[in-house]
Amino acid sequence: MPQDLTLAGGPSGENGTVHEPVNVWDYERLAAESLDAGVFGYFAGGAGDERTLRDNLEAYGRWHLRPRMLVDVAETTSATTVLGTPVSMPLLVAPFAMQGALHADGELGTARAAAGVGTIMCLSTLATAAPAEVAAATPGASHWFQVYVFRDRGVTQSLVDQAVEAGFSALVVTVDAPFLGRRERDLRTGFAFPAELTAPSVLAGGLASRAMTPVDLLSLIDPSLSWRDIEELASSSVPVVVKGVLTAEDARLACEHGAAGIVVSNHGGRQLDGVPATLDVLPEVVDAVAGRVEVLLDGGIRRGTDVVKALAHGAGAVLAGRAVAWGLTVDGEAGVRRVLELLREEIRLALALAGCPSPSAVTRAHVSPAPR
Ligand SMILES: Cc1cc2nc3c(=O)[nH]c(=O)nc-3n(C[C@H](O)[C@H](O)[C@H](O)COP(=O)(O)O)c2cc1C
Repeated sequence: MPQDLTLAGGPSGENGTVHEPVNVWDYERLAAESLDAGVFGYFAGGAGDERTLRDNLEAYGRWHLRPRMLVDVAETTSATTVLGTPVSMPLLVAPFAMQGALHADGELGTARAAAGVGTIMCLSTLATAAPAEVAAATPGASHWFQVYVFRDRGVTQSLVDQAVEAGFSALVVTVDAPFLGRRERDLRTGFAFPAELTAPSVLAGGLASRAMTPVDLLSLIDPSLSWRDIEELASSSVPVVVKGVLTAEDARLACEHGAAGIVVSNHGGRQLDGVPATLDVLPEVVDAVAGRVEVLLDGGIRRGTDVVKALAHGAGAVLAGRAVAWGLTVDGEAGVRRVLELLREEIRLALALAGCPSPSAVTRAHVSPAPR
């Protein structure tokens, strides 16, 4: 967990001293200082008592790294591949909604930063930019598209078609949000997105342009979604990744219904409070999948060492949501780029110090439970 550190004056201090944020916690603190309380609460908050939100973070502290010495780490690389796409590190940008609420650069800034750093951004269905705009802003880059299946299947199909046409190389279908989790921070602040902030999918879904609450947005989603729908989506021309799996049973079903990958996710603690930290259920999912599909994880990633611990538990890569959101808040595209560069450097250093010259060298033997 972060130490209690105050950054006087943000990145450029008042007395002319430059206070560069040196880690994700610094970015979070600066974002908390600069954002309106309602906006910060929406992005930072979780569901119910926020037990799962906290546990996602704390789970990494329950494991120690077991570094191996005298391994040649002179040429350590953080590079790997995800669904066959080379990436500069085993960390992708998680889909998160309404990025225009944090900074005018919005999703286009995040996409440019991810492309610049050599990783994949997953664009949310509830983005303030359309897939074609993101593709046009980042020629040659690899992106994934996150799918919320709307009650109006025509809108979903048209969004998927747009994304595939724009060159998005995978569909990430989110399955843990048939209804919005009980987000009490938003209830207390009465949070609604500003009316001028529009998501193309929301307008296509039939909601008029007005101030929307998170409940309004999620009301578009079809709560009757089932494995049959996954099978149908999996017959499209790009691989389908099922996001929101937390059990061996569902992991097996995802494999049986045509998924190419799974994201072990509890939606950053924003949906069902009381489910386990994602790191804790990752081994169960990895064992159930038995190598049939790729397994990714998100939730609570703030450090390169978190990523190495997730790799040791069997993840091929991770996704980061809030870490990226705080970079976007603080300095738009440049802030996202810096956060991603910081994490890439932390990952490379953690790999080297653990005696792993590449992400694929990390094994279960590189972690042990921390004594309680
Ligand atoms: C503000 C916010 C909005 C989100 N919006 C979406 C979304 O539109 N679609 C989705 O599949 N997941 C969404 N998520 C969940 C993220 O994809 C991811 O699971 C989560 O942020 C990971 O936890 P982390 O923020 O601790 O990295 C959102 C998360 C946050 C914090």
